Amino acid sequence: MTHIGFGVDIGGSGIKGAPVDLDAGEFLEGRFRIPTPQPATPEAVGATVAEVIAHFNPAPEIAIGVAFPGVVQHGVVRTAANVDDAWIGTDLGAVIRDHSGRDVYVLNDADAAGYGEFRYGAAHGRDGVIFLATLGTGIGTAMIVDGTLVPNLEFGHIIIDGHDAEEYAAESARDRHSLSDDEWIANLQRYFTEIENLFWPDLFIVGGGVSKEHASFLPRLSLRTPIVPAELFNAAGIVGAAAAAAAHH
Ligand code: BGC
Repeated sequence: MTHIGFGVDIGGSGIKGAPVDLDAGEFLEGRFRIPTPQPATPEAVGATVAEVIAHFNPAPEIAIGVAFPGVVQHGVVRTAANVDDAWIGTDLGAVIRDHSGRDVYVLNDADAAGYGEFRYGAAHGRDGVIFLATLGTGIGTAMIVDGTLVPNLEFGHIIIDGHDAEEYAAESARDRHSLSDDEWIANLQRYFTEIENLFWPDLFIVGGGVSKEHASFLPRLSLRTPIVPAELFNAAGIVGAAAAAAAHH
Protein backbone atom coordinates (compact mmCIF):
# COMPACT_ATOMS: atom_id res chain seq x y z
CA MET A 1 0.00 0.00 0.00
CA THR A 2 1.28 3.44 -0.86
CA HIS A 3 2.12 5.51 2.16
CA ILE A 4 0.39 8.87 1.61
CA GLY A 5 0.75 12.34 3.12
CA PHE A 6 -0.57 15.74 2.18
CA GLY A 7 1.44 18.96 1.93
CA VAL A 8 0.53 22.63 1.59
CA ASP A 9 3.08 25.36 0.84
CA ILE A 10 2.03 28.94 1.67
CA GLY A 11 4.08 31.25 -0.54
CA GLY A 12 4.21 34.98 -1.09
CA SER A 13 2.48 34.60 -4.47
CA GLY A 14 0.69 31.22 -4.40
CA ILE A 15 -0.75 28.69 -1.98
CA LYS A 16 -0.14 25.20 -3.34
CA GLY A 17 -1.05 21.72 -2.18
CA ALA A 18 -0.87 18.11 -3.30
CA PRO A 19 -1.15 14.57 -1.98
CA VAL A 20 2.31 13.04 -1.69
CA ASP A 21 3.60 9.51 -2.17
CA LEU A 22 5.81 9.28 0.92
CA ASP A 23 7.77 6.28 -0.35
CA ALA A 24 8.82 8.01 -3.55
CA GLY A 25 8.76 11.63 -2.32
CA GLU A 26 6.59 12.65 -5.27
CA PHE A 27 3.17 14.17 -5.87
CA LEU A 28 0.45 11.55 -6.27
CA GLU A 29 -1.63 14.01 -8.31
CA GLY A 30 -0.88 17.35 -9.90
CA ARG A 31 -0.69 20.14 -7.36
CA PHE A 32 -3.51 22.66 -6.95
CA ARG A 33 -2.59 26.35 -6.68
CA ILE A 34 -4.54 29.45 -5.65
CA PRO A 35 -2.92 32.92 -5.75
CA THR A 36 -2.09 34.17 -2.25
CA PRO A 37 -4.85 36.60 -1.19
CA GLN A 38 -3.70 40.19 -0.67
CA PRO A 39 -3.43 41.32 2.04
CA ALA A 40 -2.27 37.88 3.19
CA THR A 41 -4.00 38.01 6.58
CA PRO A 42 -4.54 34.93 8.78
CA GLU A 43 -8.28 34.97 7.91
CA ALA A 44 -7.73 35.13 4.13
CA VAL A 45 -4.81 32.70 4.02
CA GLY A 46 -6.54 30.27 6.42
CA ALA A 47 -9.59 30.19 4.14
CA THR A 48 -7.40 29.62 1.06
CA VAL A 49 -5.43 26.79 2.69
CA ALA A 50 -8.78 25.19 3.61
CA GLU A 51 -9.85 25.47 -0.04
CA VAL A 52 -6.66 23.75 -1.21
CA ILE A 53 -7.17 20.92 1.29
CA ALA A 54 -10.86 20.59 0.38
CA HIS A 55 -9.96 20.35 -3.32
CA PHE A 56 -8.37 16.94 -2.63
CA ASN A 57 -10.29 16.11 0.55
CA PRO A 58 -7.61 13.76 1.95
CA ALA A 59 -8.85 10.85 4.10
CA PRO A 60 -8.95 11.67 7.85
CA GLU A 61 -5.98 9.40 8.70
CA ILE A 62 -3.66 11.22 6.26
CA ALA A 63 -1.17 13.55 7.98
CA ILE A 64 -1.26 17.11 6.64
CA GLY A 65 1.77 19.40 6.77
CA VAL A 66 1.62 23.15 6.14
CA ALA A 67 4.74 25.18 5.29
CA PHE A 68 4.71 28.89 6.16
CA PRO A 69 7.01 31.68 4.86
CA GLY A 70 8.14 32.92 8.28
CA VAL A 71 9.53 31.69 11.58
CA VAL A 72 7.21 29.11 13.17
CA GLN A 73 8.34 28.45 16.72
CA HIS A 74 6.44 25.69 18.53
CA GLY A 75 3.47 26.28 16.23
CA VAL A 76 3.39 30.06 16.71
CA VAL A 77 4.26 32.46 13.86
CA ARG A 78 7.05 34.84 14.90
CA THR A 79 7.93 36.72 11.70
CA ALA A 80 6.05 37.62 8.52
CA ALA A 81 8.43 39.26 6.03
CA ASN A 82 6.27 38.50 2.96
CA VAL A 83 2.79 38.04 4.44
CA ASP A 84 0.62 40.28 6.61
CA ASP A 85 2.05 41.37 9.98
CA ALA A 86 -1.22 40.27 11.62
CA TRP A 87 0.26 36.74 11.50
CA ILE A 88 2.83 37.54 14.18
CA GLY A 89 1.88 35.79 17.42
CA THR A 90 -0.86 33.62 15.88
CA ASP A 91 -1.13 29.88 16.38
CA LEU A 92 -0.80 28.72 12.76
CA GLY A 93 -2.26 25.25 13.32
CA ALA A 94 -5.29 26.72 15.13
CA VAL A 95 -5.96 29.18 12.26
CA ILE A 96 -5.92 26.33 9.74
CA ARG A 97 -8.01 24.05 11.96
CA ASP A 98 -10.64 26.79 12.39
CA HIS A 99 -11.03 27.04 8.60
CA SER A 100 -10.52 23.46 7.47
CA GLY A 101 -11.60 21.38 10.46
CA ARG A 102 -8.31 19.46 10.12
CA ASP A 103 -5.38 19.09 12.48
CA VAL A 104 -2.19 19.98 10.66
CA TYR A 105 1.55 19.96 11.37
CA VAL A 106 3.15 23.37 10.75
CA LEU A 107 6.71 24.43 9.97
CA ASN A 108 8.78 27.07 8.18
CA ASP A 109 8.78 26.72 4.37
CA ALA A 110 12.58 26.53 3.98
CA ASP A 111 12.70 23.91 6.74
CA ALA A 112 10.06 21.93 4.84
CA ALA A 113 12.15 22.20 1.66
CA GLY A 114 15.31 21.21 3.55
CA TYR A 115 13.55 18.21 5.04
CA GLY A 116 12.22 17.22 1.61
CA GLU A 117 15.70 17.40 0.08
CA PHE A 118 17.13 15.48 3.02
CA ARG A 119 14.57 12.67 2.77
CA TYR A 120 14.34 12.38 -1.00
CA GLY A 121 16.60 14.82 -2.84
CA ALA A 122 20.01 16.43 -3.13
CA ALA A 123 20.83 16.05 0.60
CA HIS A 124 19.71 12.42 0.80
CA GLY A 125 22.26 10.19 2.51
CA ARG A 126 24.80 13.01 2.80
CA ASP A 127 26.74 13.85 5.94
CA GLY A 128 28.44 17.13 6.73
CA VAL A 129 27.06 20.67 6.72
CA ILE A 130 24.46 21.27 4.02
CA PHE A 131 23.08 24.75 3.47
CA LEU A 132 19.85 25.09 1.49
CA ALA A 133 18.64 28.44 0.16
CA THR A 134 15.27 28.84 -1.56
CA LEU A 135 15.04 31.78 -3.92
CA GLY A 136 11.48 33.02 -4.33
CA THR A 137 9.53 35.99 -3.00
CA GLY A 138 12.05 35.92 -0.14
CA ILE A 139 15.17 33.88 0.59
CA GLY A 140 14.53 30.93 2.86
CA THR A 141 17.41 29.06 4.46
CA ALA A 142 17.86 25.71 6.17
CA MET A 143 20.90 23.91 7.49
CA ILE A 144 21.25 20.17 7.86
CA VAL A 145 24.23 18.97 9.87
CA ASP A 146 24.91 15.22 9.75
CA GLY A 147 21.22 14.59 9.16
CA THR A 148 19.85 17.03 11.76
CA LEU A 149 17.88 20.03 10.54
CA VAL A 150 18.37 23.22 12.57
CA PRO A 151 14.93 24.91 12.45
CA ASN A 152 14.07 28.54 11.71
CA LEU A 153 17.40 29.78 10.41
CA GLU A 154 16.81 33.20 8.90
CA PHE A 155 19.94 33.76 6.85
CA GLY A 156 17.98 35.24 3.97
CA HIS A 157 17.99 38.39 6.07
CA ILE A 158 21.73 38.85 6.62
CA ILE A 159 22.75 42.43 5.89
CA ILE A 160 24.84 42.88 2.76
CA ASP A 161 26.02 46.37 1.80
CA GLY A 162 23.49 47.82 4.23
CA HIS A 163 20.50 45.91 2.80
CA ASP A 164 18.48 42.87 3.79
CA ALA A 165 19.99 40.20 1.47
CA GLU A 166 16.64 38.98 0.13
CA GLU A 167 15.79 42.48 -1.08
CA TYR A 168 18.39 42.18 -3.88
CA ALA A 169 19.09 38.45 -4.23
CA ALA A 170 15.65 36.76 -4.02
CA GLU A 171 13.98 35.77 -7.28
CA SER A 172 11.48 38.59 -6.76
CA ALA A 173 14.35 41.13 -6.68
CA ARG A 174 14.75 40.82 -10.44
CA ASP A 175 11.36 42.45 -11.06
CA ARG A 176 11.37 44.63 -7.97
CA HIS A 177 14.62 46.35 -8.98
CA SER A 178 14.50 45.67 -12.76
CA LEU A 179 17.73 43.70 -12.51
CA SER A 180 19.39 42.28 -15.61
CA ASP A 181 20.44 38.62 -15.41
CA ASP A 182 24.05 39.71 -14.91
CA GLU A 183 23.12 42.06 -12.09
CA TRP A 184 21.04 39.44 -10.32
CA ILE A 185 23.75 36.81 -10.68
CA ALA A 186 26.29 39.28 -9.25
CA ASN A 187 23.99 39.70 -6.24
CA LEU A 188 23.74 35.92 -5.84
CA GLN A 189 27.51 35.69 -6.03
CA ARG A 190 27.83 38.25 -3.25
CA TYR A 191 25.23 36.42 -1.15
CA PHE A 192 26.66 32.91 -1.45
CA THR A 193 30.22 34.17 -0.93
CA GLU A 194 29.14 35.80 2.32
CA ILE A 195 27.34 32.63 3.46
CA GLU A 196 30.25 30.33 2.64
CA ASN A 197 32.64 32.61 4.50
CA LEU A 198 30.39 32.49 7.56
CA PHE A 199 29.44 28.79 7.56
CA TRP A 200 31.95 26.83 5.49
CA PRO A 201 29.27 24.38 4.34
CA ASP A 202 30.14 21.17 2.46
CA LEU A 203 27.29 21.65 0.00
CA PHE A 204 24.87 24.36 -1.14
CA ILE A 205 21.44 23.36 -2.44
CA VAL A 206 19.41 26.00 -4.29
CA GLY A 207 15.61 25.61 -4.26
CA GLY A 208 12.56 27.68 -5.07
CA GLY A 209 10.78 28.16 -8.39
CA VAL A 210 13.92 29.50 -10.03
CA SER A 211 15.81 26.26 -9.34
CA LYS A 212 14.25 24.84 -12.52
CA GLU A 213 16.38 27.36 -14.44
CA HIS A 214 19.56 26.43 -12.56
CA ALA A 215 21.53 25.87 -15.77
CA SER A 216 21.33 29.58 -16.54
CA PHE A 217 22.86 30.81 -13.26
CA LEU A 218 24.46 28.14 -11.06
CA PRO A 219 27.42 27.50 -13.44
CA ARG A 220 28.12 31.24 -13.42
CA LEU A 221 28.72 31.37 -9.66
CA SER A 222 32.28 31.04 -8.51
CA LEU A 223 32.37 29.47 -5.05
CA ARG A 224 34.63 27.07 -3.18
CA THR A 225 31.55 25.12 -2.03
CA PRO A 226 29.83 22.77 -4.50
CA ILE A 227 26.40 24.21 -5.40
CA VAL A 228 23.59 22.07 -6.84
CA PRO A 229 19.91 22.59 -7.63
CA ALA A 230 17.25 21.12 -5.36
CA GLU A 231 16.30 17.74 -6.85
CA LEU A 232 12.66 18.25 -5.93
CA PHE A 233 12.78 21.75 -7.42
CA ASN A 234 9.79 23.74 -6.22
CA ALA A 235 7.98 20.59 -4.98
CA ALA A 236 10.33 20.32 -1.98
CA GLY A 237 8.13 22.50 0.26
CA ILE A 238 4.97 20.43 -0.29
CA VAL A 239 6.76 17.08 -0.21
CA GLY A 240 8.82 18.07 2.85
CA ALA A 241 5.77 19.40 4.72
CA ALA A 242 3.88 16.16 4.04
CA ALA A 243 6.84 13.99 5.09
CA ALA A 244 7.50 16.04 8.25
CA ALA A 245 3.78 15.83 9.17
CA ALA A 246 3.81 12.05 8.71
CA ALA A 247 6.96 11.77 10.84
CA HIS A 248 5.22 13.69 13.66
CA HIS A 249 1.84 11.93 13.31
C1 BGC B 1 11.27 34.54 5.70
C2 BGC B 1 11.63 33.09 5.93
C3 BGC B 1 11.14 32.27 4.76
C4 BGC B 1 11.62 32.84 3.44
C5 BGC B 1 11.07 32.10 2.23
C6 BGC B 1 11.81 34.99 4.37
O1 BGC B 1 11.49 36.32 4.15
O2 BGC B 1 11.79 35.35 6.73
O3 BGC B 1 11.09 32.61 7.13
O4 BGC B 1 11.59 30.94 4.90
O5 BGC B 1 11.27 34.20 3.32
O6 BGC B 1 9.70 32.17 2.18
